[in-house]
Amino acid sequence: MARTKVTIAGAGQTGGSIARRVAERGYADVVMIDVVEGFAAGKALDLNQTGPLMGYPPNLIGSTGYDESENSDICVITSGFPRQPGMSRDDLLLKNKEIVEDVAGRLAEKSPDCKFIVLTNPVDAMAQLVHSVTSFSKERVIGQGGILDSARYRTFIAWELGVSPEDVSGFVLGGHGDAMVPVPRYTSVAGVPVGEMLSQDSLDAIIQRTRDGGAEIVKLLQRGSAYEAPGEAVMLMIDSIILDQKRLFPCSVLLEGEYGINGTFVGVLVKLGAQGYEGMIDVSLTEEELAALHKSADGVRELVEIMGV
Ligand code: LAC
Repeated sequence: MARTKVTIAGAGQTGGSIARRVAERGYADVVMIDVVEGFAAGKALDLNQTGPLMGYPPNLIGSTGYDESENSDICVITSGFPRQPGMSRDDLLLKNKEIVEDVAGRLAEKSPDCKFIVLTNPVDAMAQLVHSVTSFSKERVIGQGGILDSARYRTFIAWELGVSPEDVSGFVLGGHGDAMVPVPRYTSVAGVPVGEMLSQDSLDAIIQRTRDGGAEIVKLLQRGSAYEAPGEAVMLMIDSIILDQKRLFPCSVLLEGEYGINGTFVGVLVKLGAQGYEGMIDVSLTEEELAALHKSADGVRELVEIMGV
């Protein structure tokens, strides 16, 4: 039986962070692709030489072409420009559209049965672009933003309460943009509703910091954007798909009437397993939460329209 293969397009900070994690799992061959000559090959060689030290098989390949990606089980798209200080995720739209369109088409040609995980920003619109370019079923095109946003949200709550983030459970819905929708009503700390533990003011501040979470890091780094938490978020998705774990994560998928949203990629709580996106948890929302989700979806739709997808 062929070994599992994961291809990562874009060997920058995020792509590299995902490649390292997948290699460490030991269950898949890893192909890294980057347009810059030698860049993916160099990273792959470095990671291969880490194999003996970490105890994983040195099965990474780096390339500028797509042949090595043939018959991948999962293709992750991180290709494109990252945010710079002062830029919103949406400012990247047209630059990254061209890149992602090309990359997705080439990957799909080599791996017609793969599942796509899209990370390039603005991620919801890019996931929709990949879906449109490849004509893959909606089960096989999933965007990632919500796990990252939720991790930030959980971290800030844990800090505020002085408890382990492992005991903070909750999710952020909506697009991975300024209009994302944290849902405190479904956030708990070891099972206790967060509203019983934090004041509304504290929660509001945490929600705002979560919304600004990406920009806060971009501003500090001054070059590039976050890559460790995004890398781990994608890793959890890959685990759930390859190992058929059926985990529930906030991810961006094509909605077709759910929550009254039709034909737009937006973050909802989904189940990930061997088939990819295997279903969603239709959490009941208040009028206000639903309106916030619609507003976020409207933002994604505008970007999709600008791209002409
Ligand atoms: C962030 C960027 C990568 O949220 O979208 O960090």
